[in-house]
Amino acid sequence: MRSDLPALGDIESRTDIEALLWAFYGAALIDPVLGPVFTIAEMDLATHLPRIASFWEATLLGTGTYAGRPMQLHRHLAATAGLAAVHFEQWLVLWRHTLTALFDGPTATRAVGDAQRMAVGMIRDIEKPRPAKETSSLATAPERMAG
Ligand code: HEM
Repeated sequence: MRSDLPALGDIESRTDIEALLWAFYGAALIDPVLGPVFTIAEMDLATHLPRIASFWEATLLGTGTYAGRPMQLHRHLAATAGLAAVHFEQWLVLWRHTLTALFDGPTATRAVGDAQRMAVGMIRDIEKPRPAKETSSLATAPERMAG
C-alpha cells in the first residue's frame, strides 16, 4: 500500500517529538470530542507543548527532564472539565493516526503502546472511587464526575 510513498523515519530527537506534538494537538484542539475539554481547561499550547515534549522525550528517548504529575493533572481535569473515558479513546485514535502519518519504526511503535497503557491507567484512576477528603483537595468544582 505504502510502497510508492517516501519511507518514513523513526522518532529520534526532541525536534521529532515537537513535530509530532504540533501535528497531534493541531488536530486535537479542533476535534469535536476533544476540543471542548481543551477549551474548558483553557489549554495554552505554547505553554504546555514544551512540558508535554519533555514528558515524551523522557518516556521515549530517555533524555530531557520532566517532573510533572500527569495522573493528578488529568484526575483534576475529570473534575473540572469533564474529562472521561470517551476522550481518551478519541485521543488514542488521533495519536495513532498522527504517529502513523509521520513516523515509522520501533520508537514510534512504542509511542502507541505507551500511550495506550497510560490511557488505561488514567481512566482507571479517574473512575476509581475515592474518599471525599482526597477528592476535595484535588477538585475545585464542588461535585465530581465519577467516583
Ligand atoms: C494517554 C493519554 C494522555 C497523555 C499521555 C497525556 C499527557 C499529558 C501531559 C504529559 C501533560 C502535561 C502535564 C504537565 O504540564 O506537567 C498533559 C496536559 C494536559 N492534558 Fe493530557 N494526556 C493524555 C490525554 C488527555 C486527554 C484525553 C485530554 C482531554 C481531551 C487531555 C487534556 C490535557 C490538558 C487540558 C492538559 C493541560 C492541563 C493544564 O492546564 O495544566 N489529555 N497531558
